[in-house]
This record gives sequence, C-alpha cells and structure tokens, in this order.
Amino acid sequence: MNKDTNVVEIRHGVNSTTTFDVERIRADFPILDQSVYGKPLVYFDNGASAQKPRQVIDAMNDIMETNYSNVHRGVHALSQRSTEAYEAVRGKVARFFNAASENEIVFCRGGTEAINVVAYAYGRKFLSAGDEIVISHMEHHSNIVPWQMLRDEIGIVLRVVPIDDDGNFLLDDYAKLLSDKTKLVAMTHVSNALGTIVPIAEVIRLAHDHGARALVDGCQAVQHGAVDMQALDVDFYVFSSHKLYGPTGIGVLYGKEELLNSMPPFMGGGDMITSVSFEKTEFQQAPLRFEAGTPSIVEAIGMGAALDYLDAIGVDNISAHEEGILDYATERLSQVEGLKIIGQASDKAAIISFIMDGVHAHDIGTIIDRAGVAVRVGHHCAQPVMERFGIAATARASFGLYNTPAEVDTLVEALGAVREFFD
Ligand code: ALA
Repeated sequence: MNKDTNVVEIRHGVNSTTTFDVERIRADFPILDQSVYGKPLVYFDNGASAQKPRQVIDAMNDIMETNYSNVHRGVHALSQRSTEAYEAVRGKVARFFNAASENEIVFCRGGTEAINVVAYAYGRKFLSAGDEIVISHMEHHSNIVPWQMLRDEIGIVLRVVPIDDDGNFLLDDYAKLLSDKTKLVAMTHVSNALGTIVPIAEVIRLAHDHGARALVDGCQAVQHGAVDMQALDVDFYVFSSHKLYGPTGIGVLYGKEELLNSMPPFMGGGDMITSVSFEKTEFQQAPLRFEAGTPSIVEAIGMGAALDYLDAIGVDNISAHEEGILDYATERLSQVEGLKIIGQASDKAAIISFIMDGVHAHDIGTIIDRAGVAVRVGHHCAQPVMERFGIAATARASFGLYNTPAEVDTLVEALGAVREFFD
C-alpha cells in the first residue's frame, strides 16, 4: 500500500492490475465529508454499522419517488414495478453469494431475526430434548440467546467450542465435541469482538460428517470477503444489510431450498399463504412462507444497490484493501504504550479490539471521539468473549472499504492523547 496516496495496487495476474482508489470511493459516501468537534470524521465503527454510498441512498429515494407501492398485492402498474424491483434483489443476492436458487433467499429484518427464524421454525420442529447444538466461545449474543431460549423450552444441550489466548478457533476441540447427538452447529464466520475468521468450510464439513446441519452467522464476514453458498455447502447462512453498506431493517436468511420447505412458517399473516379459510390455511413455499406481512421494500432495494456497488468495486479488491489497513493498524497500534490488542488470531478480518493499561474502554472512546474518531466500546454483545479474556470491555476499531492509513495515524495520535490524560 502506498500510504501517501491511499492507493492500493492489486495484482490479479501477470497482465491485469486494478487500482483501488480509496479517495474516489470516499467521495461516494456523503456522510464521511464532515467534521466532528472540529476534526475530520474518522469512522472506525463499521462493525456496528457501515455508512451508505450515494448509490444506495439514490436507489432508495428513486423507488419512493417513482415506483413505490406494496409488493405481490396489486395489479396496478406501481405495484408491478415495485414487485419487480423487490424480487430482482432476491436474484442479485442469489448471484452475489452463488446460491443455487433465488428461492433460497429469505428476506428478514436482519441477521438476528434470521437466526431466530431458524431457532423457531427449524429448531422447534426438528430438535428435541437431549439433542446438541454446538456454538463457539466467541458468538455474538444473537447466536447464543435464541439457542438458550430453545434449550429452556425443549431441553436441547448447548456445547461451546473453546478459543485460545490469541482468539483462534480450536478446530480439534470442535471436532471432539461432535457426536451423533449433535444436530446443529451454529457458528460465527467472523468474530465481531476479536476479528477471528473461523475456518467455516472445515466446520461445515465436520458437522455434515456427523449428520448435523450447519448455520453460519456471516454478519461480520460478508462485507470483508467473497462467500459462496454452494462451495461451502452450508445449510443456513445469515447476514444483515446494514454492515454491508446497505440500509437497516433488511437482512438475509439463506437456506437450502428443500430444508426451508420442510420447515413450518415462523410468523403467520399476509403474503405467506396460498389460501386461507376459517377451517384451513395453505402456506406458500419458501421464501415467501417466511415473509409474512408487508416486507421492507425500500430497504431491500437499497440492499440490492449496495450489492451492485460492491460488485462494481470487486469484493476481492475490498478484501485486499482492508488487509492492508489491518496490517498497518496492527503494527501502529502495537507501538502505542500500554495498549494491548485482544484477539491476535492467525486469520483475521479487519477488526481490532484493544485495551489500555489503567484506562476504561469507555474513556478511550469518549476521548478519541473529541478527535473525530468513532470506535465502538463495551462488550460488543459478546460478553462470553470478554469473560474469556478476563475483561469487562474493549475499544474496537472496525475498518471498511473507505478507511485509509492516514485515518489510522489519526487514531494512533488520539490514543497518545488518551495516554497523556491518564499518565
Ligand atoms: N453486532 C454489531 C457490532 O458488533 C452491532 O457492533
């Protein structure tokens, strides 16, 4: 990476080189062009929610200004246009993630809702007392609590894969937890608190070897690198749009088609039925069977625009850029006196959690905010990870496609001010 120009040259092969021009990308994100407390905004809270490019904002405005109506319900022109635009996104998602069919793409409110759909619709039909679900020690609460609720209701057993002191997922320990009692493995793809990339292809393969289904929480993964549903042979994969540069209120549950169709609906209402009488109701096949009520139409279209945007840049180019930022930030932060990085796994996405001697994470966040730097502080909805490291909270810098090495320098400088304040 050329630190002065913020340009990464990515070599695809002998004859082709793409230039990833981060300044051009930044110009697509109107919100980045502002000052906070008189300092240029440095946005390092992408893991919580990423900012939106003009292309997403325009697509959402455009549908509301020109083609908006409810979907699947009207014979009139606006409803037809709206339905076409909404359903086109399903196809885009299927292609982007190489699903076998767009029927495998269920629109949900977000990743959390998607996991809950599986816990209710799959868990309550196919699991029973004594069946085991395997999760890891670094799950987000959204991939712990739904399974605990299921445990308390029907008596399934939760098994937890340990991590080592660097935050590596322990594959051998995982393999030892699997048995013929294992019915579902529900695993994060990337830890939101540590950045650890879990070797999910291997995790899924081993789950299948034991006859178990595999669900992967991709909320912190899909924005950092390419994910291929068919290559992974995953049973369920979930993610949110808002961390993927799209709007809030929309996310995806990918599920293998025959599996989705074997599951009962999660919520009843309009659009998920083929016929209703007081005596009997017939349900739609997937995906509509899981989309009761008026969906997030405008948000779905925004998510489609976000995928188009990422596609145009190239997900591999984004990964390469973020890897450069992660390496640079890891090196610079390691030099800050009294700073310790929590989570130094051998394979990491662009997330750095850290603590500082004698300083509470909330104080770090508050002080560097005055320098215009936005990070998340706290337990990151992953309290078991904090407990594993014997800490209450970390500060977390999570990087996105528009971040630059110069912004990392600003963070390091701001942390110097934190140090001075507490010395
Ligand atoms: N799950 C989001 C995060 O990690 C909110 O910050």
